[in-house]
Amino acid sequence: MAASALFRRRNRASLLCFLLALLAHGPALGSAQTPVYACDVAGNPALAGLGFCNGSLSWADRVSDLVGRLTLQEKITFLVNSAGSVARLGIPRYEWWSEALHGVSDVGPGTRFSSNVVPGATSFPQVILTAASFNTTLFQAIGKVVSTEARAMHNVGLAGLTYWSPNINIVRDPRWGRTQETPGEDPLLTSKYATAYVRGLQDRDDGDKDRLKVAACCKHYTAYDLDNWKGVDRYHFNAVVTKQDMDDTFQPPFKSCVIDGNVASVMCSYNQVNGTPTCADPNLLAGVIRGEWKLNGYIVSDCDSLDVYFKSQKYTKTPEEAAAKAILAGLDLNCGSFLGDHTEAAVKAGLVDESAINKAISNNFATLMRLGFFDGDPRSQLYGKLGPKDVCTPENQELAREAARQGIVLLKNNAGALPLSPTAIKNLAVIGPNANVTKTMIGNYAGVPCKYTTPLQGLSAVVGTTYVAGCQNVGCGTADVEGATKAAAGADATVLIMGTDLSIEAESLDRTELTLPGQQQQLVAQVASASKGPVILVIMSGGGIDVGFAKDSDKIASIVWVGLPGEAGGGAIADVIFGAHNPGELPNPLCVRICFFSQGRDYLI
Ligand SMILES: *[C@@H]1O[C@H](CO)[C@@H](O)[C@H](O)[C@H]1NC(C)=O
Ligand SMILES: *[C@@H]1O[C@H](CO)[C@@H](O)[C@H](O)[C@H]1NC(C)=O
Ligand SMILES: *[C@@H]1O[C@H](CO)[C@@H](O)[C@H](O)[C@H]1NC(C)=O
Repeated sequence: MAASALFRRRNRASLLCFLLALLAHGPALGSAQTPVYACDVAGNPALAGLGFCNGSLSWADRVSDLVGRLTLQEKITFLVNSAGSVARLGIPRYEWWSEALHGVSDVGPGTRFSSNVVPGATSFPQVILTAASFNTTLFQAIGKVVSTEARAMHNVGLAGLTYWSPNINIVRDPRWGRTQETPGEDPLLTSKYATAYVRGLQDRDDGDKDRLKVAACCKHYTAYDLDNWKGVDRYHFNAVVTKQDMDDTFQPPFKSCVIDGNVASVMCSYNQVNGTPTCADPNLLAGVIRGEWKLNGYIVSDCDSLDVYFKSQKYTKTPEEAAAKAILAGLDLNCGSFLGDHTEAAVKAGLVDESAINKAISNNFATLMRLGFFDGDPRSQLYGKLGPKDVCTPENQELAREAARQGIVLLKNNAGALPLSPTAIKNLAVIGPNANVTKTMIGNYAGVPCKYTTPLQGLSAVVGTTYVAGCQNVGCGTADVEGATKAAAGADATVLIMGTDLSIEAESLDRTELTLPGQQQQLVAQVASASKGPVILVIMSGGGIDVGFAKDSDKIASIVWVGLPGEAGGGAIADVIFGAHNPGELPNPLCVRICFFSQGRDYLI
């Protein structure tokens, strides 16, 4: 009964201190808090007699006991992400929405950082780079570190237990702004990634398959691969997909995620598939995910998906119909408030039975039970000893650097220009808008990293450097050609670190061009002409960049793609450039077809 326990503790503290702390730090406060949990039998012995708190009963019996104690109005509060609380049953509020795409993230409201308890968490490379390692052991190892850090943060009241990651949509167009979040275009690699990352997040060290370390969620189901294109945004997008393309391309990652990964959740998307919003499609949800694939967990909507198909897509005449359609299709949880607002009226209008609501909340409660939420204080359970000391450990940060090393791809290397010799190079020119960046390296759905190693810091740790940004930002409206060429002319070798950031490709921001933005390409060409030593072009991007001009240039010896390489990216780039690590080379299925499109033809062929 965390809610009332928290209340008692606050009452004991000086109210003034509490208010001052609240003013100074906002809701995060400055210090560790109690994790949120139900069935606090120690704090309230009366709860011990409740069936849903009784650990010797089966999940099914506990869930049905709990559902049987709730009124319709109470049940409806458990259909939304900011779920309700029931004081008389010792059930506190639970926020379902947390994110952990490539590290514990504070993008969702369920998780936050606190400057003097857990200021940051390990921020791994963006998924597109990690996937380019083709190493399922690595995918799972990252998931395991992320779930350990999540549990550690949960124990001090900073993090949730339900993470809406990974994003396993298939990339069909390299201009998609969310390419960076995904393992790319290949259904097999994406399936392997989904399974391994989900198992890393969910599987417990004691091998108990009924219980979850944290709950993962494969999203966004399905055929979603566009954010805005020629006046169509994802809220109005109807993906017209043949049965063959569904079965060959879009469904396999979700199928593997559910069947092989045993994921605890799938999220339906905003778009329609063949005219039906995915979150209102009984075939896709109840039929395929729960029926054929036998999901053991809950189906959640993308945030405000129901509102979107009611208001933007005008899929139903009334909001009650929209609510009923989702529940009848098999949706269990709504990110947003739509089901909270309209379900009661839908029941009263006879559009959906209370039994369907019981089914939905049963799936939600069962997931929380598998997470230990109804077993009292998590600090007395497996993972209960984890805390701030287990976040951002040297080992975890080293895995972030290792992941970047394993993902980085060597695309061109004339005359063995790479690796550069750390002893022969006295002065390295480091040029480009992404040479001295921090946040760019972690991309979207990131948290606060433990610390950053910028490319410039990574390279400067090995040799002497001269740094010229060359462009004010990746948009590169004008280039400092003079400063950059001067640095290159005076150096033993030149590394250009170019590419994109979230101002060019992001959620809700698809690209229209595949070339380097603004004046970047001209800057590269001028610097390459003026350079005394070998020229290494490093592309830091989420999606593919057309580097045909550099492939064909005699002046550019080497090209390296580093994705968005995470908090330790600069160290990994230095490892590859100076030969401490031998990078993967083309042919690389991911990058041949996605990363390096050149005028519509593949880079290599
Ligand atoms: C828990 O359930 C078991 C099995 O039905 C029962 O024997 C036991 O008395 C219950 N415990 C409590 C505290 O009610
Ligand atoms: C895969 O990743 C793991 C974990 O980093 C590493 O130990 C292993 O060597 C990698 N395998 C290959 C083939 O690189
Ligand atoms: C790199 O960027 C940081 C700000 O992010 C700045 O403080 C630092 O001076 C820059 N380094 C150089 C060598 O300009």
